Amino acid sequence: MSTFSTHLIHWQRAHGRHDLPWQGADAYRVWLSEIMLQQTQVATVLPYYQRFVASFPDVSSLAAAPIDEVLAHWSGLGYYARGRNLHRAAQHIVLHHKGEFPREFEQLLELSGIGRSTAAAICALAYHQNHAILDGNVKRVLARYCGIHGVTTEKLVEAQLWQAAVSLLPKRDIAAYTQALMDMGATLCTRSKPQCERCPVRGECVANLSGQVAQLPTPRARKAVPEKSATFLLLHCGDQILLEKRPSSGIWGGLWCPPQIEHVSAWLQQHDLSGQPSPLPPFSHTFTHFKLHLTPLLLEVSEPLNLPESQWMSLHDALNAAIPTPVRKILLACRAISS
Ligand code: ADE
Repeated sequence: MSTFSTHLIHWQRAHGRHDLPWQGADAYRVWLSEIMLQQTQVATVLPYYQRFVASFPDVSSLAAAPIDEVLAHWSGLGYYARGRNLHRAAQHIVLHHKGEFPREFEQLLELSGIGRSTAAAICALAYHQNHAILDGNVKRVLARYCGIHGVTTEKLVEAQLWQAAVSLLPKRDIAAYTQALMDMGATLCTRSKPQCERCPVRGECVANLSGQVAQLPTPRARKAVPEKSATFLLLHCGDQILLEKRPSSGIWGGLWCPPQIEHVSAWLQQHDLSGQPSPLPPFSHTFTHFKLHLTPLLLEVSEPLNLPESQWMSLHDALNAAIPTPVRKILLACRAISS
């Protein structure tokens, strides 16, 4: 066994996390947690995870649920393709694996939303199979420990990191080791202010020994974040508001939003509406790849007009529907001024 893995396994017993609800759970729960934890912190995931497993306790209940209900449980967690892929994968498991969660790494790789590292995490944590993980946190740990320079998303650098990840695997205790890697990356070997003095492998870490911890992993050149603007028209009729279901592809695919409009007066004229919409406070929302400036407008209508793929609902129902976070903000602002 590598000294790296031995040290990590010991460290995990004493200092790692042991109270996460998906630890020691079945493969379905491990899978769900791994998907939710992609780009998302444990503290954010916990309440979503609990609500999700309460409503969808196994693969078949998830596969049988309407996608709208699955996305409503994902509302606020972001990266909604994860929720759509989860649902699609559950249906695949029911259709092709009789509802039994697959046990083979290659079968896991066939499922929507599961890449090499996620398949490996499920195999290691749920089935105790020896597979190497390599998510963003683990890349940082290994780049430092092995002194691997270069931007970690570049193919050649990534290949070196995978090689390191595989060569450091332990012969036993793969679940504890995998969790240790994740916990180290999240708690000690953090991007800024890493706690090297507490690290169980500080004595062999190339970055630590050569004073390069702050330089590794090599930061990637940050491009300027593009900015976009969007105007949302919140139509209300009594206590009902109009939301429209977005087409299934795209960043908010399948989610409910107020109509997004380009030209206010042309849109109103086209829909035979009159009146002056009142502006709600504008705000911005930052996605990974762009920043969106939102202008919400509020307009009361006397008759509930019909638009394609749209539904009138109470604010209460809308807040429980599959809506993205900025729409939640608009609805809460609207509720605040109407009460
Ligand atoms: N990040 C990704 N997977 C994780 C897990 N199983 N526990 C804690 N953080 C994680």
